[in-house]
This record gives sequence, structure tokens and C-alpha cells, in this order.
Amino acid sequence: YVIGVDLGTSAVKTLLVGKDGVVHAEATREYPLYHDKAGWSEQDPEDWVTGTAAALRELIASAKIDPAAVEGISFSGQMHGLVLLDAQNQPVRRAILWNDTRTTEQCREIERTLGDKLLSVTRNPALEGFTLPKILWVKQHEPDVYAQASRFLLPKDYLRLRLTGAFHMDLSDAAGTLMLDVAGKVWSEDVLSAFGIPASFCAPLVEAGASVGSLSADAADATGLTTATQVFAGGADNACGAIGAGILSPGLTLCSIGTSGVVLTYEADASADYEGKVHFFNHGKENAFYAMGVTLAAGYSLSWFRNTFAKGESYDKMLEGVGDIPAGSSGLLFTPYIVGERTPHADAKIRGSFIGIDGSHTRAHFARAVMEGITFSLNESIAMFRAAGKTVDTIVSIGGGAKNPLWLQMQADIFQANVVALENEQGPGLGAAMLAAVGCGWFPTLDACGEVFVKHARIYRPNEETSQRYEQLFDVYR
Ligand code: XUL
Repeated sequence: YVIGVDLGTSAVKTLLVGKDGVVHAEATREYPLYHDKAGWSEQDPEDWVTGTAAALRELIASAKIDPAAVEGISFSGQMHGLVLLDAQNQPVRRAILWNDTRTTEQCREIERTLGDKLLSVTRNPALEGFTLPKILWVKQHEPDVYAQASRFLLPKDYLRLRLTGAFHMDLSDAAGTLMLDVAGKVWSEDVLSAFGIPASFCAPLVEAGASVGSLSADAADATGLTTATQVFAGGADNACGAIGAGILSPGLTLCSIGTSGVVLTYEADASADYEGKVHFFNHGKENAFYAMGVTLAAGYSLSWFRNTFAKGESYDKMLEGVGDIPAGSSGLLFTPYIVGERTPHADAKIRGSFIGIDGSHTRAHFARAVMEGITFSLNESIAMFRAAGKTVDTIVSIGGGAKNPLWLQMQADIFQANVVALENEQGPGLGAAMLAAVGCGWFPTLDACGEVFVKHARIYRPNEETSQRYEQLFDVYR
């Protein structure tokens, strides 16, 4: 067996996977988020460690297997979160997460200081969620805390440090710090020196599939595994989501609708130029990359709608009747910017809207408008890829948005592409397990592993008439 650990924002999810790609057991532990001030979002790194250990114990117990049969483990993690450590590797404060928006001023400072280098070296815009602005914020607002810090890690790299004692960061996650030379695959001396960050602050870089040793005796005790289990670095959740959905060759695009939504397209090299309008990161597959647009409140818009207008109802109940409402929700339009936005409106302060409300509209119209608005927002990223010359005709859909056939058809109609749903989709945790499976030598490459682990269930094709209607509405949306 191998284990994939997905260290998410609301919970850690662990998967036990066999050589045939079948998931034999899963176990999850939730942990709290702290929002002490408007726009702040933090977590206690200790919660990740205790939550993961408890989930792994449950995983092994529920599968009733000999822990010595677990050959390898790897990780997928929420990106960008800043974990500042002192010289003894103790966190000096809580982690500041990807969805924290306190750093607008630091983003402007990064743009002013780096000028053209921001895009040519980091390949990304300066966004509040990324790691470098968070480091600058701590330096400026909590100088005493910053003075204690000797190094930093990202969430899943900190978890792995606690399980192995080894200090590393993988390229796919390092790409989201704004300190990596993405094409050169090294920490950027230009960026580090521009902000007075010593090179010793940054962990040695490794590939997502790299072997980084085995579990420490303490970690084996805490998790119920053995010190024989090999540990592989793992990658960013979006990179692992792409691996787990088989986005491993040119021509494939991923749409993931979770709390946030992403549209991500495989890039065989770093030559594409999206002018900084989308994110451009190293893939978890060696020497590959991906471009990605992010809708911050995708699934979150629908859960906000449910909590506000259908409290206590299941999604199925709330969405009853939505299929009978015509495409376009009879003139009602929703924009999902309820927590700010990244793509294409990089603006932490932008907010959402319902427009075109008519006396004949029911709650089902509003629910459909929310689903359409989220999908239009993701389509803006796809439109950007296409405008840059990219062909987007096959999209693998994962996450909550892939659980509902109506939404899958809506994606095909709005995206004007074939949308593939997976059998037994497991998200980034499966990508992490695949990194371990290849690391353990079960398969020569991730592609070979994908042929066994990733199973297509159904293809949704665009309906010509609905698609044309949505094309007109997309113009209105924009
Ligand atoms: C990506 C991003 C989110 C987090 C969610 O840039 O911020 O997708 O990785 O876990």
C-alpha cells in the first residue's frame, strides 16, 4: 500500500491505496481556522500534525492491515501558507494562510521593488494569498516575532518535517511563494536580496516525487506506521489534484470546484506567456508546468447561499427544481466575488452581486444563477488560455462541482468543451498517493501510474443550443 495525505484548509484527508489504484480506506480530521480580524485567516501548525497522526491511526485501524505493509507516503498541501520557524524548528507564530488578504500593501511594494522581474522571474502577479507578501507583513508589523525566525516552510513541508526531521520544499509549492525562479527551478537571488531575505531562510528544493527518507521513530509511534515507510516530498494541492486527475500531458485541462475553484492547463515547458494574468507554477511532474486561474469563492458561493437561504437543507434538496429553470436563470445573473477575487479581477476588495432580479424569480432561480455565475467566472480563465492560443477542448472536472450531473453539463455548455467526470474521484490525495506509488517503484512514470489509477466515468458534451445561449450571456457577465 501507499498513503496519500491531503493537508487541506478545513481538514486533512488520508487515503490508503493499493497497487491497482483502489482506495481501501480513508480517514479525515478537521481543524479550526482563526479569523481574528477581517481578512485574516490563520491555523495552528500543531493542529495539522496531531490531526494527521490521528487520521493515519484511524486509516490503518479501519483497513485492518499490518502497518509494515505501507511502503510509501506522500503529501498534497494547501498552497502559500507561511510557517515561520525558529532555529529549533518551532513555529514563531500561527501560520498565515492562502486565503488571508491582509497583505495588499506588501503586494504593491513587491510590484514597485521588482518591476519587470516579478513576471520574468516569478512568472506570477503579486497576490495577497502568496507567501512573500506574508513574510514582509510579519517583518513590518511583528518585528519581534520576525527577529526570532530563521527559516520558513509551507504547510505540508512543515508536516513532513515533523514526520521525518528533514527540511525540504518541493518545487510545485515553492512556485507559489513568489521567491522561486520558476523556469530555472532555483530560489531567486534577485528576489531574496531585494527584500533582505537570507538564503538560509529557504529550504533545499526537491522535486515533488523525490525521496526524502523515512518516518522517524517518534512519527512512527504517533501515526501507528513503521520507520520502514518511505517518505516522498509531495506537492501543492493543485499540482496533486492535476496528477490525480491525469492532467499529465499537453491538451488536458482541469476544472476543480472546491471552496475555491481553479482551471488549470498543462504546460510542457515554461515558454507560454499569459502576461501575468493567470498563475504559472511548476507541476508535480518533473520538468512540466501548469497555468491556472483561480475563482476564490466557487463552492464557497454555493455554501454561502445554502447557509444563508436554505439553512439545514442538503444540497440535493436545495437544488431541486434547478434543472427546470432555463439556462440563464430567466435574466438573473450572479458574480461570485464574495470574498474578493484573483482571476481575472485580482482585487481583494471586489464584491459579488445579483442583478436582474424579477418578481417571478424563485429561490431555485437564485441557486441556478449562483452555479452559472461560478462557472462563468471559471470560464474567464479558460477564455484567457484560449486568447493566448491554447486549445481547451477536454476538461477533467473534479471537486464538489463534479458531484452534480446538472453542473457537469453546465460546465460543458459554458466552457464549450467536453467535460470528463472521473470514477471514484479522490482529489489531490490520490495525486499524492501516485507520487508515492511511483517513488516506491510500482510504476516507471506518473503517466504509467495514471493509466492504472485514473479512471474516466463519463463525458459531458456541449449542447449546441444551450451553449450558444451561454455564449451570449457570458458577454453580459463580463
Ligand atoms: C492556489 C490557492 C488555493 C489553495 C487551496 O493558488 O491559493 O487553491 O492551494 O488549498
